[in-house]
Amino acid sequence: MTNTQTLIKTAKAMVANGKGLLAMDESNGTCNRRFANADISQTLEMRRAYRELLLTTPGLGDCISGVILYDETIRQAKDDGTPFIQVAQDANLLIGIKVDIGTQDLAAHPGEKVTEGLDGLRERLQAYFEMGARFAKWRSVIALDDIRLPSQSCIEANAHTLARYATLCQEAGLVPIVEPEVLMDGSHPLTRCQEATEAVLRSVFGQLTRQGVVLEAMILKPNVVVAGLGCPTQNTAQEVADATVQCLRRVVPAAVPGIAFLSGGQSGQLASSRLNAMHVGHDLPWPLSFSFGRALQHPALDIWAGHDANRVAAQQALVHRARCNCAALKGEYKTGMEAP
Ligand code: 13P
Repeated sequence: MTNTQTLIKTAKAMVANGKGLLAMDESNGTCNRRFANADISQTLEMRRAYRELLLTTPGLGDCISGVILYDETIRQAKDDGTPFIQVAQDANLLIGIKVDIGTQDLAAHPGEKVTEGLDGLRERLQAYFEMGARFAKWRSVIALDDIRLPSQSCIEANAHTLARYATLCQEAGLVPIVEPEVLMDGSHPLTRCQEATEAVLRSVFGQLTRQGVVLEAMILKPNVVVAGLGCPTQNTAQEVADATVQCLRRVVPAAVPGIAFLSGGQSGQLASSRLNAMHVGHDLPWPLSFSFGRALQHPALDIWAGHDANRVAAQQALVHRARCNCAALKGEYKTGMEAP
């Protein structure tokens, strides 16, 4: 099999069989912030113990096709010494790795960011491939407001960077997850998010095509189209699903083997119900799946709270959210599946 054929096979497998991805690739800074909010001590060992809890969840592989790890995590091991890479492979989970190194202020553009990490990326990708990773992730963030943002230059800088990352991934034998996230912060209405998301995705696909990315060998990880968190009008799951599917159908080529949403700060239940509504009565040219971080993990993190005694209950909460999202991919999620 050629490199491209292998990449296409991996990309398809990431969204096959009605499964999704578990994003557990929080940088140390983000992970520590979430630990602090849950009153968990922010140490290397606690981060390792938490990631062991997630990776060893019984039944995870029934709903999840792959996990996205962080550089610290991909090098870690279980308490008994089994490397996490081995644990994931034994559970039939594809291994992904976050390879961007975070965002910086975009010069001359107050309030906007560009994602860094291209320096030395070719060598880092090769090393991750040799460790067992088969896909990678790079997240760009686009801020939105009622009037000014996003600027065209911010959209273009991030699209260009995402495409450079994606070509390097494919060269190294890794499927790129291309993640341009239009943020939920702000008070803008849903229509504004739809316009911005469409503009961002048009620019991203323009750059991906121009720079020679094989569209059949990548996964798109977009935001759901929603009103800003501060907007007084919050839309129904049906309205969110209609706007999101319309936006994606207009700009994402059918050649792309799959789309896997980020959760972006939606609650677990909202994320599931919106995903469900997208799978009822819509004509979808690609598998539409999930690659959630918070919407899968948050209940589990709160239950665990850093205590070994809560481990099993936390794992049950994780697998429950994964099952809810798998049901959503079949249009079978009902709020009745949630605990009262
Ligand atoms: P959230 O689902 O918490 O937004 O995280 C997904 C992710 O991978 C962000 O880069």
